[in-house]
Parts: sequence; C-alpha cells; structure tokens
Amino acid sequence: MRKPVIAGNWKMYKLLNEAVDTALALKPVVANANHCDVVIAPVFTALKNVSSRLEGSNVKVAAQDCAAEAKHGAHTGEIAADMIKDAGCSHVIIGHSERRQHYGETDASVNAKTKSAIQAGLIAIVCVGETLDQREAGSADDVVKSQIIKGLDGLTVADTERIIIAYEPVWAIGTGKTATPEQAQEMHGVIRQTVAEAHGNEVAERVRILYGGSVKPDNIVELMSQEDVDGALVGGASLEAESFAKIVNYR
Ligand code: 13P
Repeated sequence: MRKPVIAGNWKMYKLLNEAVDTALALKPVVANANHCDVVIAPVFTALKNVSSRLEGSNVKVAAQDCAAEAKHGAHTGEIAADMIKDAGCSHVIIGHSERRQHYGETDASVNAKTKSAIQAGLIAIVCVGETLDQREAGSADDVVKSQIIKGLDGLTVADTERIIIAYEPVWAIGTGKTATPEQAQEMHGVIRQTVAEAHGNEVAERVRILYGGSVKPDNIVELMSQEDVDGALVGGASLEAESFAKIVNYR
C-alpha cells in the first residue's frame, strides 16, 4: 500500500508572518490525518521559521527548488539541498512547470537537482506534465515519458525510495480546469509503466505519483479514487488552512 501524500505548494505567496500564521492554523486541523503525509512548501525565506513552528507536528516542510550543485561554492543566488535540510525541510519540489517554462529548468537540471536532493537526505518531489499544445498535438504521453526517463536517469533503486512524482498538466495549473479523474489515471498509469521499464516493477509499485492542477476540496475525493493517484500537489487551494485541511482530510 502506498501512503498518500497531500502537498501544498505556496509558490511566491505569503510574507514571513503570513506563512507562519497559515502553518500554525493548519497544524491542529490536520493533526489527525494519519492516512497521508502532509507537506507544505513556503518560500525560501519562510522555511526556517515555519519548520521551527511545526516541529513535533505531522506537517512536513518542503522547499520549492534547490541548486543542482551539491558542493558549496560560488553560485550566487542558489541554495544547496543540504542548506534546505538545514532549514528544517524534509522535502523539495523539483522541476515545477513554472520553473521549466519561465526559469530555464531542463530535464538535465531536474536530474542534477534530484540527485543533489537525495544526496542531502531530502525527498524530491519531481514534477512532470505536458502543455495544452502538446496534449492537443497528441504528444502528451511522449512528453511526460521523456521527462520521467531523463529526470530520473541514473537513479539507483535506493535513490528511488526518496522520490515522489507529481504529474501536473500545465493546462490545469491555476486555470480551474482540472484533468478528469480518468485523464489523471491514464497518465499516472503511463508514468508508472515508464518507471517500471526504467527502474523495475518493484520501484514502480512503490513510487507515489501525485496529481496537481486545480485540486480543490470538491474534486479531491474523485481524484483519490483512482488506482494510480497517490496524492495531490495543491497550489491555490493550499494557501488557506481551511481549504487545504479539507483536501488533506478527504476521507
Ligand atoms: P493550482 O492548484 O493552483 O492549479 O496549482 C497547481 C500547482 O502548480 C501545484 O504545484
């Protein structure tokens, strides 16, 4: 049985006090959620404060990116994976489509960052997903397969214990247009099959695949009812403790 993961990506929202307030509001309302792992991803500058205030709770903290370089050095503006761990994080989101689209993230950088994250002892939430053009051109499966193969290239079986995959169709992010449960299931099946071919059946059976893109309290149950949907990566609806708690407590 794969334990579900419900993760909230706060993107570039919330000043420090707002992030801490939301985290503190979330803590009691998800305290009984033993059925899933709960993760929130505030901006870098709030990580330490938020993680300190959540210590001893069941809410884990993720960064939204990390440096490809593991070794400390002259990389102005970058933050190494072990620095993220040092700030109290257990997870890091890698290769979000917003970074791929607007900040030059490539499959090669996703691969390097994933390896650095694993080396630092973090769990890497590796994001994949096709654009609307790619879906309409009928190449969605090939795009996502290629992102998985290249993004996870060279990972050992032990490494794969420390990854979570998030399928986020770009056309569903922030648009209110969720993939149907069937569309999500279909792509999650493709992803699991691709992982099986590249890393073996055992790894594929174990790896958790989250869906992301306009997940809300009113569509989480349907999405989670799909066999290969092992959780959600939530954007907008994770910004308020109340709506995120409803998603976490979907059952
Ligand atoms: P929304 O839930 O706002 O569509 O964002 C999804 C997302 O990008 C999570 O990483």
